[in-house]
Amino acid sequence: MKLKDKNILITGGASGIGKIMARIALQKGANCVAIWDISEKNIADTLTEHQSYGKIKAYKVDVSSSQMVEDTYRQVVGELGQVDIVIQCAGIVTSNNTFNNNTVDEIDRTMKINAIAPMYVGLCALKDMVARDNGHLVTITSAAGMLSMPKMSIYSASKWCAIGWSDSVRLELQRMKSHVRITTVAPYFINTGMFDGVRSKVFPILDPEKTAAKIIKSIERNKTFAGIPFSFHFIRLMEGILPQALFDWFYGDVFGIYNVMDGFTGRKSLTPQPPLP
Ligand SMILES: NC(=O)c1ccc[n+]([C@@H]2O[C@H](COP(=O)([O-])OP(=O)(O)OC[C@H]3O[C@@H](n4cnc5c(N)ncnc54)[C@H](O)[C@@H]3O)[C@@H](O)[C@H]2O)c1
Repeated sequence: MKLKDKNILITGGASGIGKIMARIALQKGANCVAIWDISEKNIADTLTEHQSYGKIKAYKVDVSSSQMVEDTYRQVVGELGQVDIVIQCAGIVTSNNTFNNNTVDEIDRTMKINAIAPMYVGLCALKDMVARDNGHLVTITSAAGMLSMPKMSIYSASKWCAIGWSDSVRLELQRMKSHVRITTVAPYFINTGMFDGVRSKVFPILDPEKTAAKIIKSIERNKTFAGIPFSFHFIRLMEGILPQALFDWFYGDVFGIYNVMDGFTGRKSLTPQPPLP
């Protein structure tokens, strides 16, 4: 779906690729971009930086609260009219611990924000979109949702879940002959700060600006699935045809992907988030 004259809602829109996509959407002539984020400081900075590009509104929302999602979605529709495109970017990673050293809080927070929240937001958006047979729901998952990665098992599980949900909804809409579009995006590591400290042996860490532009292009072209880089589309094929030990050697040792999280520090400057209820 083209972005010109559209109302676009971006969760996690006050940082990283969400923030960049908000700017690109305004530059492409969106009618209004509504950003949802939990960080007040990032929201304030984004409003200041982006307001010269066009009409932008911001809402402080914790996407892991179904009530807050529902209430704020209604508020956005009341203020802007229909939402044409929803881009789900809000996400977290909590540590590079092995699973035996993870905590219940890490499991709960990661699954609620990365896996369950996209369904809360998707439910609000799709009720409207399906009723008017128009709209586009985009969910940013991760290559970690296609490729098992040591020291990020909960994150990987949450993104695996998001891919399965988003792509299943695509099939449902297709069978309904709906004109509502779904795009599932699965990028490799991006240099936004979220995964500070990761070291990638073969595949370059992605540039945030170029990645955001690629995602926007995927939306404009109604792509159903966008693996970034493109070669990541073949992960499942490789896993299907290679014996497990050979696949692990190839991706783990040759590409070095199984060691990327060893140096992970995460974004040090991130405002600490309160524990979820
Ligand atoms: N950075 C990467 O390497 C990478 C790679 C693949 C996929 N992704 C995914 O892409 C998306 C964007 O990543 P990014 O690198 O731009 O991250 P980022 O940390 O820069 O931005 C994420 C935003 O989500 C917001 N957020 C977190 N919890 C929230 C909550 N409960 N409610 C509302 N907002 C909340 C944060 O405040 C932040 O502004 C995430 O879903 C991430 O998992 C990132």
